[in-house]
Amino acid sequence: MVLRHVLALLSFGLVVTVSDAKPNLDGIYALAKRRVPTHAHAFSFSLADGDTDSFVVSDVPAGIHVQCTTVSACARGFYAYLSTHGGTDIWWTGSRLAHLPAHLPKVGTPVQAHAIVPYRYHFNTVTFDYTTAFWDFDQWELELDWLALRGVNLPLAWVGYEYILIETFREVGLTDTDIATFLSGPAFQAWNRFGNIQGSWGGDLPTTWVNDQFALQERIIGRMTELGMTPVLPSFTGFVPRALATLYPNASIVNGSQWEGFPESLTNVTFLNPFDPLFTTLQTTFISKQREAYGNVSHIYTLDQYNENNPFSGDLAYLANVTAGTFASLRAADPDAVWLMQGWLFFSSAAFWTNERIEAYLGGVPGNDSLIILDLYSEAQPQWNRTSSYFGKQWVWCELHNYGGNMGFEGNLDELTHGPLTALHSPGSSMKGLGLTPEGQEGNEIVYDLLLDQAWSPTPLNIAAYVDGWVARRYNVKSLPRAATDAWQLLSATVYSNTDPGSQAAIKSIYELAPALTGLTNRTGHHPTRVPYDTNTTILPALKALLKAGEQQPLLKLNPEFAFDVVDVARQLLSNRFIDYYDVLLAAYNTTSSPSAVSAAGHTLLDLLADLDALLATNDHFLLSNWIRDARSWAHGKDKDKNSEAYAAYLEYNARNQITLWGPDGEINDYASKAWAGLVGTYYRPRWAAFVEYLADTKQTGAAYNAATVSAQMIALGKAWSNGTWGTGQGETWGTKGDTWDVVRKVVEKWA
Ligand SMILES: *[C@@H]1O[C@H](CO)[C@@H](O)[C@H](O)[C@H]1NC(C)=O
Ligand SMILES: *[C@@H]1O[C@H](CO)[C@@H](O)[C@H](O)[C@H]1NC(C)=O
Ligand SMILES: *[C@@H]1O[C@H](CO)[C@@H](O)[C@H](O)[C@H]1NC(C)=O
Ligand SMILES: *[C@@H]1O[C@H](CO)[C@@H](O)[C@H](O)[C@H]1NC(C)=O
Ligand SMILES: *[C@@H]1O[C@H](CO)[C@@H](O)[C@H](O)[C@H]1NC(C)=O
Ligand SMILES: *[C@@H]1O[C@H](CO)[C@@H](O)[C@H](O)[C@H]1NC(C)=O
Ligand SMILES: *[C@@H]1O[C@H](CO)[C@@H](O)[C@H](O)[C@H]1NC(C)=O
Ligand SMILES: *[C@@H]1O[C@H](CO)[C@@H](O)[C@H](O)[C@H]1NC(C)=O
Ligand SMILES: *[C@@H]1O[C@H](CO)[C@@H](O)[C@H](O)[C@H]1NC(C)=O
Ligand SMILES: *[C@@H]1O[C@H](CO)[C@@H](O)[C@H](O)[C@H]1NC(C)=O
Ligand SMILES: *[C@@H]1O[C@H](CO)[C@@H](O)[C@H](O)[C@H]1NC(C)=O
Repeated sequence: MVLRHVLALLSFGLVVTVSDAKPNLDGIYALAKRRVPTHAHAFSFSLADGDTDSFVVSDVPAGIHVQCTTVSACARGFYAYLSTHGGTDIWWTGSRLAHLPAHLPKVGTPVQAHAIVPYRYHFNTVTFDYTTAFWDFDQWELELDWLALRGVNLPLAWVGYEYILIETFREVGLTDTDIATFLSGPAFQAWNRFGNIQGSWGGDLPTTWVNDQFALQERIIGRMTELGMTPVLPSFTGFVPRALATLYPNASIVNGSQWEGFPESLTNVTFLNPFDPLFTTLQTTFISKQREAYGNVSHIYTLDQYNENNPFSGDLAYLANVTAGTFASLRAADPDAVWLMQGWLFFSSAAFWTNERIEAYLGGVPGNDSLIILDLYSEAQPQWNRTSSYFGKQWVWCELHNYGGNMGFEGNLDELTHGPLTALHSPGSSMKGLGLTPEGQEGNEIVYDLLLDQAWSPTPLNIAAYVDGWVARRYNVKSLPRAATDAWQLLSATVYSNTDPGSQAAIKSIYELAPALTGLTNRTGHHPTRVPYDTNTTILPALKALLKAGEQQPLLKLNPEFAFDVVDVARQLLSNRFIDYYDVLLAAYNTTSSPSAVSAAGHTLLDLLADLDALLATNDHFLLSNWIRDARSWAHGKDKDKNSEAYAAYLEYNARNQITLWGPDGEINDYASKAWAGLVGTYYRPRWAAFVEYLADTKQTGAAYNAATVSAQMIALGKAWSNGTWGTGQGETWGTKGDTWDVVRKVVEKWA
């Protein structure tokens, strides 16, 4: 074992397995029992020496054997068998691994593979809010198995951060009142952790929440470790309650910049300069408490200080001082500490972060192996190529792909296979990993699967062959009709071959935006609304092909992933059609003075949204009610006191506000919009109804269109909706409603 680690060190110049516990395969055996209970006895695993993460799968008399060099590689080897030979897979929509054939197919010639990079990374700091904010351990368990099987060995682990942070703050004399005005609500913790916002709207963060999340994190860390993953743990970042400045008048404290138009009381977060000795005190306290809680499981720490928050000074000596002080504090707390940072700042604040400043900032950290930078948006806005491979520091090629968990189809499969290899083989490359950094996990699953699979292939994956295999195991039926694969080959060659530089992210549907006469269509950037393909020759025929496949092989209709995809493609059809009818409404508004002609044009939009809501309501993965129920569940059953209804309402407000107004007054309105039944029916549709009514009214009265009036009305609707509680609005039901196949057939007849 010692030799193995030394070899790993020599080969990559770093230690990948940082856990001090002697690696054992108990977690992999437990994974097999959990996911393939009736076949678990047939699988055996063993560790062998080797200098990279690699595995060999072969037949043995008792069944199938996976030999691996690391626990993570064993999980990946197990997955290689289950997916390739077993024809099954595990998805965000659930694990189907138990559907292995009764007689396990033989491997034949042993199958081997190795990871092309030492790190396979997952999560964006904000995924912990946009997707997992209200998850319980069952939801985490599926996620962690999905990650481990795909070979991820470096997941971010933010859950429950506040518990240890609060203890740390108390130790330097801050009161609970000081701390309460600093922490943000359950759906907004990521941006408090980033130092973008402070405090909470709608009520202080409850202690019950802090304690429950900490308990959840203990289980998450335990499971990550058992599955051979090294959790990237939180650390003290420097962001502190305002009161620290009063308590330590001589400490070097500055204010961060204002974020996204939030009022000063909620942003300009106070920052303790890392070269102040108090910083090291807080860091060592935090990390030693964390080590006590979770054990000596990782030496890699996530730490971001300037995410969408510019430094107090651009002076090169100051910047180097900040990183030198920060890193010294980490090493004081943990002599093996490695600092991991999201590289988003270098793109999002590119005007501030000149190459000179980046070099000074990174240069404050000694050595090249002490830092890991996530090149956060490599598929579209890589920064490694303008920074001489981050001046030699380790970095990870990351796919971001979506903002706020927006759900529209988008992808560039070719870039995901070629881009990482080009970067890895570029002269002087210090790239050490491949990873996923999506803001949310909502659909478009194929673009994420492909990247994690590319991490195990030294040559670019063949996309056509990849899609065939992906569809076959996703639908997993005998005699899969060719039409099903055709649908995905078509999408892959068009919708998922998007090279439009203006729309390199999940496409946002304009019905999810606050209605207005201008500015909705053809947006480019992070929330593009420009649809870079022709719906009639892509989405529509793909949907028809899937329906045809369902007719030819009725077993498909019992497959949850097939049902998900059919609803998802039909959703995209309606989203795109909405743009056409919106244009019709605008044209009507421009050319007629008749209020009824405007209302009639608007009626089509409302009709479409009603049909969209009904479509989404047929599938459990497109429901607002699940988001709300998950949020409320942290109050019910967990906190039995009489305030638990108030607590549930508080959680629900957080959940509703994040996906709509995002801020007390709509500061980043509609950023995290979703195509969910319930949200479409009780929020987006009423907004459009109000808009159509307003347009018709102006025709009636002859008044000029007033954009400010419309916008204020939309914010007012958002506030009323955010403050609602489940069951008090209209059409709010838990669970699904209606038959997918009936509804989709009608959608195609009516809207094709
Ligand atoms: C909505 O709730 C928030 C937080 O509880 C409160 O501050 C606000 O006044 C309410 N707004 C409306 C329109 O009811
Ligand atoms: C702050 O610095 C001043 C001047 O050096 C000193 O007199 C004072 O005692 C210090 N206060 C604290 C709380 O350390
Ligand atoms: C930071 O902001 C607070 C609140 O507005 C203010 O009182 C304080 O003086 C600011 N601190 C600095 C160093 O600018
Ligand atoms: C907040 O930051 C902005 C710059 O982003 C600055 O103009 C303002 O003075 C800051 N306010 C405080 C209280 O620090
Ligand atoms: C944690 O692990 C490191 C080696 O990775 C070791 O040097 C250190 O002594 C361990 N610390 C504790 C508290 O066990
Ligand atoms: C760098 O940090 C030291 C304390 O470690 C401080 O005395 C010095 O002023 C800092 N330099 C700059 C340029 O901020
Ligand atoms: C880095 O690569 C991106 C994507 O290919 C390209 O747009 C950009 O111009 C490159 N930057 C430099 C400095 O080469
Ligand atoms: C870090 O990498 C850079 C660029 O390859 C190199 O010039 C430098 O010598 C390296 N530093 C160390 C300490 O290895
Ligand atoms: C949207 O952009 C495309 C390409 O730039 C252009 O052809 C089209 O006219 C634009 N549509 C609108 C409504 O602006
Ligand atoms: C797509 O099909 C619809 C319905 O037949 C038609 O109205 C529209 O003009 C077509 N769009 C394009 C770009 O061909
Ligand atoms: C409506 O009129 C405005 C200004 O008169 C113009 O900019 C816009 O392009 C027109 N829209 C349509 C859909 O005709």
